[in-house]
Amino acid sequence: MKRSTMYFCMTSVSFIFILWKIFEISSALENTNQAIIINKNIDLLSKRFIKSVTIYCVTPTYWRYVQKAELVRVYQTLTLASFKVDIKWIVVEDSEHKTDLVSNLLKRIDNEGAHFQYVHLNAKTPPFQKLKGKDPRWKKHRGVEQRNAALKWIRDNVSSHGTKKIVYFMDDDNTYDVKLFEELTKIENVGVWPVGLVGGLNIETPILDPKTGKVASYKSGWKPDRPFAIDMAGFGINVDLILSNPEAVFSYRMEKGFQESQFLAYFTTKDQLEPLASNCTEVYVWHTRTEKPDVKGIVPGYEV
Ligand SMILES: *[C@@H]1O[C@H](CO)[C@@H](O)[C@H](O)[C@H]1NC(C)=O
Ligand SMILES: *[C@@H]1O[C@H](CO)[C@@H](O)[C@H](O)[C@H]1NC(C)=O
Repeated sequence: MKRSTMYFCMTSVSFIFILWKIFEISSALENTNQAIIINKNIDLLSKRFIKSVTIYCVTPTYWRYVQKAELVRVYQTLTLASFKVDIKWIVVEDSEHKTDLVSNLLKRIDNEGAHFQYVHLNAKTPPFQKLKGKDPRWKKHRGVEQRNAALKWIRDNVSSHGTKKIVYFMDDDNTYDVKLFEELTKIENVGVWPVGLVGGLNIETPILDPKTGKVASYKSGWKPDRPFAIDMAGFGINVDLILSNPEAVFSYRMEKGFQESQFLAYFTTKDQLEPLASNCTEVYVWHTRTEKPDVKGIVPGYEV
């Protein structure tokens, strides 16, 4: 064998050996990285999961073209939230019967192994209270029948024993930051926080007294002098208060725009409110309101 051929063979063999080693090391490194990432996730989950509180999220819903899109969004928000807190979703349809559209969506919670449970109810709004097409949104009370059905279900089925339980009215047309659900776990009686994009303002919020840290007044686009100028998305209540005040319901007799204020008056006073979201400085929920789509044609065979 010629000397140059021998050199060539030796160099090639060493080169292949080095390549093989590099490959071995890099795949070992990759496995370690994956292991570290997985460990981190488990760590986060076990550290952040606040087992001792259950949040009952009450979502009134009614048929319109964006219904499914809105509910999928809420469902997936709750899936994320359920990594941190114990969630029970109470969905109340404004309909004579439970619809396939909502039933099918809720079945996904079982089939996809989501870590929260749901309750499916229906309660139809009497025809005289329904919004007409051109009526402004605030003209009639909305969600009265459905929220009351959820309150009745809670009073019939939930006991005040055991772990802390909180009720949150979670409309299907808002956008929720998962951080809100951690705030909800901190509530002792009634907790409040800012709500974004509402009442003609970028936010509505309780205003705190810098000396006492308690709610002194409200920044609100409409009647800030209401006893509780707080949006439906801006408060959470301990179930114990719902159970110990069985007369507290929403009502068509409440003054227009006073639903939240008159409902909260059953349970608490302004100076007892618990300001959350870093002393009401953070926004974790927005009234985004999906635009009404201009649907001119129907493609048959789809549940949209
Ligand atoms: C909840 O209470 C109602 C009575 O209002 C009852 O019919 C129903 O079976 C209860 N549901 C559960 C899950 O306990
Ligand atoms: C909220 O304000 C109080 C003083 O009123 C303060 O003690 C507390 O640390 C603040 N909390 C947060 C989360 O900023």
